[in-house]
Amino acid sequence: MSPIPKTAPFAEEEIDLLNRVVVTASPVQRAWLAGFLAGLDASGATLVPAHPAAPARPAEPLTIVYASESGNSEKLAGDLAKAARKNGLKPTLIDMADLELSVLTAAKRLVVIAATWGEGEPPARAVRAYNELMGEGAPRLDGVEFGVLALGDTAYAEFCAIGRKIDERLAALGGRRVADRVDCDLDYAEPAARWIGGAVKALAPPNAGRVIEVDFGAKPAVAPSTDIFDAEITEHVDLNSSRSDKETIHLALSFEGGAPAYEPGDSLDLYPENDPAYVDELLKIAGLAGDEKLRTELIKSRDVTTLSLKTVETYASSTGHQYVKALLDQGQAREWIAGRQLIDLIATFPISLDAEKLRALTRPLAPRAYSIASSRREVGDEAHLLISAVRYESHGRARKGVASNYVAEQLKRGGHVRVKLKPNKHFALPATDKDVIMVGPGTGVAPFRAFVQERRATEAKGRSWLFFGDRTFTHDFLYQLDWQDALKDGSLTRMDVAFSRDTPEKVYVQHKLWEHRADLIQWLEGGAYLYVCGDAKAMAKDVRAALVRAYADVKGLSPEAAEQAVVTLEREKRYLQDTY
Ligand SMILES: Cc1cc2nc3c(=O)[nH]c(=O)nc-3n(C[C@H](O)[C@H](O)[C@H](O)COP(=O)(O)OP(=O)(O)OC[C@H]3O[C@@H](n4cnc5c(N)ncnc54)[C@H](O)[C@@H]3O)c2cc1C
Ligand SMILES: Cc1cc2nc3c(=O)[nH]c(=O)nc-3n(C[C@H](O)[C@H](O)[C@H](O)COP(=O)(O)O)c2cc1C
Repeated sequence: MSPIPKTAPFAEEEIDLLNRVVVTASPVQRAWLAGFLAGLDASGATLVPAHPAAPARPAEPLTIVYASESGNSEKLAGDLAKAARKNGLKPTLIDMADLELSVLTAAKRLVVIAATWGEGEPPARAVRAYNELMGEGAPRLDGVEFGVLALGDTAYAEFCAIGRKIDERLAALGGRRVADRVDCDLDYAEPAARWIGGAVKALAPPNAGRVIEVDFGAKPAVAPSTDIFDAEITEHVDLNSSRSDKETIHLALSFEGGAPAYEPGDSLDLYPENDPAYVDELLKIAGLAGDEKLRTELIKSRDVTTLSLKTVETYASSTGHQYVKALLDQGQAREWIAGRQLIDLIATFPISLDAEKLRALTRPLAPRAYSIASSRREVGDEAHLLISAVRYESHGRARKGVASNYVAEQLKRGGHVRVKLKPNKHFALPATDKDVIMVGPGTGVAPFRAFVQERRATEAKGRSWLFFGDRTFTHDFLYQLDWQDALKDGSLTRMDVAFSRDTPEKVYVQHKLWEHRADLIQWLEGGAYLYVCGDAKAMAKDVRAALVRAYADVKGLSPEAAEQAVVTLEREKRYLQDTY
């Protein structure tokens, strides 16, 4: 923590300077400084600068907008602001959730750092401002100097689509691109730090002098990270019955020396390993079975399942495979990779590979996020996760999600797993006297177990209403006993459930919202906060649509006015989503 707060009566740059001195000063030095300054004031002496100060050059403004869901773009925006400050710029950071487009017209210099979510969509919080920017009413941005950094994941067909579209749109509106866009994959740290350095150089005022490089450093991959915790698994329980077609693991983790300082709404990044059977098959198909060093590396640290356009291009160029080249040349590769994995590429287009060529087709194995399903106030130095095993079939092959099956099939009670805290201040509980409505079907219910535990521990006065759904009451009612206890002790006021396969007609949580729309709108009008967690593809959109219809019906509003009512909730940060 910096000792001089941002609220101190100094300019931002001065606060930085003061902090630089105070942070490194010893207690003796700090005591001397305090006494000296007090004595100086008491003596009424006038301070004269040792060297006549050059007239201070006012810092040039820089607007930094970030569109972020899980915090990566937000963190990079903070890094950029730091570098900008050191280079004669005065940055203003804006979450796209709060962006008014008029701010952009007034901006002289603009950087947008944008992540892509869903299937090529903006982060949930950024949707309104993004649509306005793309819409016909967007203002001209003639002369605004801009640069865009895009975050994404090459595993998705719409890689970095939102960053790309914003970049194109800013140019179309008359902006002047001074830093070319870079599209970052999941291992974005290094390219993003490089881009930030270049962008600051391009945007810094011409007389700023030498550009001060800021090393946010992309730490070398081998450096041990102190934020990664080694947790012991104290519970590993499948919450579905043995007759369910799903497997959802409740995982209790305990931390020697203290759990990470998490809050309800935060997630843990879990570092998985690959399925050894899959890696063995991959090595066999590639003609590299028996290479133990490679096998270990692939299991532990390489993404050996993702098949992206980039992988196909690398395969074509490194092997010269004619059919793969043809697939790319004829524009069919994008379609071909849908539902396929790296193993399909090598099995379908076999060619002699060496270890280096195979490794070059993979990227570092990324951690997966899981909502924390417990409150530290109730479970102490533990953290609970709720993980659904992803299994499906495509192109005639049985597939398994890497991390969820690592948890379900390879981890056992007494074993260990590596995790890292992923805070989410945008999905936090409100004051204890506020009402909360929680919509969390399937594993989406995980953070709400944390919410309910927290509300019990803090003896919250506000009411809590949970909407839960899954396939069947008998086999898939996740944490059923917890909810029953919570309803009994009052930490949960009300619960409505939707079991889609128990009735001939499928019933989902959005239908329950609609059924209870009068109460729902009454709670919201009374200041309740609405939280939605879980599936982003369908559920979150259907829930939002149901809410708009509920407003229209209960309050007799036009569809446009009902939409505005929900937008108002979003702007007031009373409609909060954590969807995936
Ligand atoms: C903030 C956040 C919180 C989350 N919280 C939770 C949680 O509490 N519990 C939880 O279980 N998950 C949660 N997730 C999801 C989790 O991070 C993983 O994405 C999920 O477990 C799958 O990871 P995996 O490694 O098992 O699968 P991967 O190896 O990553 O494979 C998943 C991929 O397989 C493909 N795929 C999956 N199903 C199909 C299908 N039917 N047909 C075709 N292709 C398919 C898709 O390309 C998909 O992207 C959360 C995600 C985020 C971002
Ligand atoms: C559920 C989900 C969907 C995603 N969809 C896309 C996508 O369509 N295209 C893409 O390039 N990246 C996609 N990503 C990757 C994110 O953009 C990437 O993780 C990014 O670093 C997140 O940045 P943020 O933390 O600022 O939100 C997706 C990630 C998740 C978890």
